Amino acid sequence: MSDASSQARPTALVTGAAAGIGAAFARRLAREGYRLVLVDRNGGRLRETAPSLSAECEVIAADLVVDADVARVEERCREGVELLVNCAGFGHPTGFLATPVQAEVAMSRLHTETVLRLTLAALPSMIERRRGGVINIASVLGFFPSSTYSATKAWVINFSQSAAVKTRPHRVAVTALCPGFTRTEFHDSAGMNMSKIPGFLWLDADAVARAALRDWRSGKALSVPGWQNKAIVALGRLTPSWVIARLLARSGRRPLVSRAGDPQ
Ligand SMILES: NC(=O)c1ccc[n+]([C@@H]2O[C@H](COP(=O)([O-])OP(=O)(O)OC[C@H]3O[C@@H](n4cnc5c(N)ncnc54)[C@H](OP(=O)(O)O)[C@@H]3O)[C@@H](O)[C@H]2O)c1
Repeated sequence: MSDASSQARPTALVTGAAAGIGAAFARRLAREGYRLVLVDRNGGRLRETAPSLSAECEVIAADLVVDADVARVEERCREGVELLVNCAGFGHPTGFLATPVQAEVAMSRLHTETVLRLTLAALPSMIERRRGGVINIASVLGFFPSSTYSATKAWVINFSQSAAVKTRPHRVAVTALCPGFTRTEFHDSAGMNMSKIPGFLWLDADAVARAALRDWRSGKALSVPGWQNKAIVALGRLTPSWVIARLLARSGRRPLVSRAGDPQ
């Protein structure tokens, strides 16, 4: 490829790109001709998969709850990217009363502080060029008072919607992606037992990434992929939040594996 055509290709930076929804974004963006900057805690895994995705793929190994690692990725965002996808995330198998506070702080930092820092690092050059944008991965749970996880995702939705309004006049689009149950490593990594979730509620990570990119390109501040998730969000909006909080507290998921000290 000539230098000129390489320069013309837009660059996308995706966090959490070694697995699940982030990996699906990376595959799709590579097919669309983007140059990729892939970020994950697990740099080794990315270095194995990156060459098969695109000849122009930069890998950054960074633990995005560690300040110095986040600063390195912020720096790369400041250099200029056309699309930032904040996808890295994780959950806990137990409620916050049974989870060590450091683990809660790490999750909160990854889902909120890191998303904030990378978004604010990426936006100025997008605004200057009047092009590009950000997709922040929230969750359907962000509409429901269910846990510290849902609280962090509510923050992502709220922040992204306000950023969308502020950046739209500069032709920069910010979208909060709100997936529901998606087949990835997420639940196994957290040790969550999902066996009771009916099959029709599950979506495929590639379908989620495809819907998100379509909605981002049409300037939507909110992307809820799948009719099932749209129905869940609509129902949530019609139901008083105290009713939802009580129902979710009663139906709290049991961990697949228990840790010493966790209540059963
Ligand atoms: N799957 C679902 O049902 C679902 C539903 C709603 C929302 N979401 C959201 O979707 C996003 C992607 O999740 P997923 O389902 O694709 O899960 P996944 O398959 O577990 O992928 C998550 C990725 O994030 C990376 N990551 C985790 N902690 C990190 C850290 N501290 N620094 C850098 N990277 C880190 C993981 O790296 P390691 O492999 O090194 O851990 C992994 O590559 C998350 O924000 C999640 O909250 C998922």
